[in-house]
Amino acid sequence: MEKIVAPSILAIDFKQLPLQIKRAEISAEWFHYDVMDGVFVNNISFGPDILKQINALTDRFMDIHLMIENPVKYFDAFIDAGADSITFHVETMIDVETGIHAIEKLHEKGVKAGITLRPSTPLDAIYPYLKYVDLVLVMSVEPGFGGQAFIPSMLERIEKIDEMRSMNNYHYLISVDGGINQETGHKARNKGADVLVAGSYVFSGDIEKAVASLL
Ligand code: DX5
Ligand code: ZN
Repeated sequence: MEKIVAPSILAIDFKQLPLQIKRAEISAEWFHYDVMDGVFVNNISFGPDILKQINALTDRFMDIHLMIENPVKYFDAFIDAGADSITFHVETMIDVETGIHAIEKLHEKGVKAGITLRPSTPLDAIYPYLKYVDLVLVMSVEPGFGGQAFIPSMLERIEKIDEMRSMNNYHYLISVDGGINQETGHKARNKGADVLVAGSYVFSGDIEKAVASLL
């Protein structure tokens, strides 16, 4: 099991962007970058141009979370801007074949591929993808906004995805996103999460200390 923290850029103070990136990257191996289109979710965040600027500030792994319709249309733009992995929502794929094709497209470009789902989407929607993906992102809040409370029942999801990984010898990392703090992060790690995505918890106080507390 790996122990990775992925501070979420969504919660960063943009007035202090370079400084906050430097502080977070002391112990964080990844950064998490949330893309929202105002259609798939009720919020709008940022696109490839901002990613490019952030990527120029750090060598850390860029974990892109696309909360957008038609994600495949934007793969190249995010890859050119520095994406190391791209995670898309199962709800945005018309069928499994299209979804598997999207994963192949990412792999052809040398980028890691991740699948994710809303807390309200039945978990079995992602089962057909598990043997192909590098990352499974368990959303532990409704996607769209930072600062929401962790949904405790999502711990069972992490556990199930971890069980399926060992049973089938799958190789994906398990990431958890939403409402992560020291307490919920610890619970998620105990269920098998490798990557903890954390936004408000990391950037609302002592950044170095918060990241370290999730390791
Ligand atoms: C929510 C995003 C999260 C968000 C998490 O839609 O996917 O990555 O930044 O924020 P916190 O850690 O504040 O819940
Ligand atoms: Zn996210």
